[in-house]
Amino acid sequence: MAVLTTLYEPIAKDLEKVCQIFDDELFSDLPLINDLCAHVRQYRGKLLRPALLLLSGKACGKTTDVHLTLAAVVEMVHMATLVHDDVLDDADLRRRCPTINRLEGNEAAVLLGDYLISHAFHLCSSLGSQHASRVIAATTNIVCEGELQQVHHRGDFNLGLDDYLQIITRKTASLTGACCRLGAHFAGAGTETAANLERYGLAVGIAFQITDDILDIIGSEKRMGKTLGRDLQKSKLTLPVIHCLTRADDTLRKELHLLLAGSNPDRNRLRNLLETTDSINYSLHAARDYIESAIARLDDLPPSQARHSLSRLARLIISREQ
Ligand code: IPE
Ligand code: IPE
Ligand code: MG
Ligand code: MG
Repeated sequence: MAVLTTLYEPIAKDLEKVCQIFDDELFSDLPLINDLCAHVRQYRGKLLRPALLLLSGKACGKTTDVHLTLAAVVEMVHMATLVHDDVLDDADLRRRCPTINRLEGNEAAVLLGDYLISHAFHLCSSLGSQHASRVIAATTNIVCEGELQQVHHRGDFNLGLDDYLQIITRKTASLTGACCRLGAHFAGAGTETAANLERYGLAVGIAFQITDDILDIIGSEKRMGKTLGRDLQKSKLTLPVIHCLTRADDTLRKELHLLLAGSNPDRNRLRNLLETTDSINYSLHAARDYIESAIARLDDLPPSQARHSLSRLARLIISREQ
């Protein structure tokens, strides 16, 4: 996204170093491992989590080499969850490229995900910081809980708003929250400021996943560069569907159940049903409210380019198409 380049301007050089640390950490003397990791290295994503960590640091003070290492750690954790997620979702495309499970099979993808998470901890431990290790480990515990909760609730048509919010807070927002907390902490921020940055990151993460769930229904696979429609196919209830079910009469509810339980998911049909209850708009508004609450958390920080980027980045997250 071209606009990300301007937003990332205050951290552009740092992000290059982060990618270098990421690549160095994954270097192996086994060619087969290097081949697999080359794939992961070659296709970069939006680098949202490293950006949140670095910008939070700069918005609170000065960033150091610790920030660079931690930014590589959080991207590696994220990458591990994506490689595993594509197995769970049986996805074919990620970052405009075939997924590891499609190229190498599920066994290699599961093990590569493990390898990435193991390297994330290995890299984190090089800092010798108990605080960093505890935050990263507690966060990955929570991410796994969220993914397990989601699998547990597949096909559960009674899933309510609170359950949904719990799932996405764990699987997605806990990591973005941790990024902001760590960035602030290692720039010398006090407990209250670090907690506030974490709240910003949590709200941004929730809005990010709500938007991702909307795009899974109405987005373009070409623009997103990843397989879409898997939430419907895997009977995962997300905010638009949950909202629609609360508004639906018996006929609409039955049709939604059939569509979600069916073996031949039809995204366009789902979209039409959701339109009758204005559920996409409702969800977009919900995401916007989280973003506004996130931005309000930045109020107490001194004005800076980094703080400005944090607030622009938050707004971009809900208007994105990829
Ligand atoms: C995708 O995250 C997974 C979700 C939490 C929805 P991103 O959209 O940040 O993925 P990349 O890193 O840019 O590919
Ligand atoms: C995955 O959510 C979130 C993770 C924490 C991995 P999704 O399943 O919606 O992510 P995408 O849409 O495949 O990127
Ligand atoms: Mg997925
Ligand atoms: Mg998704």
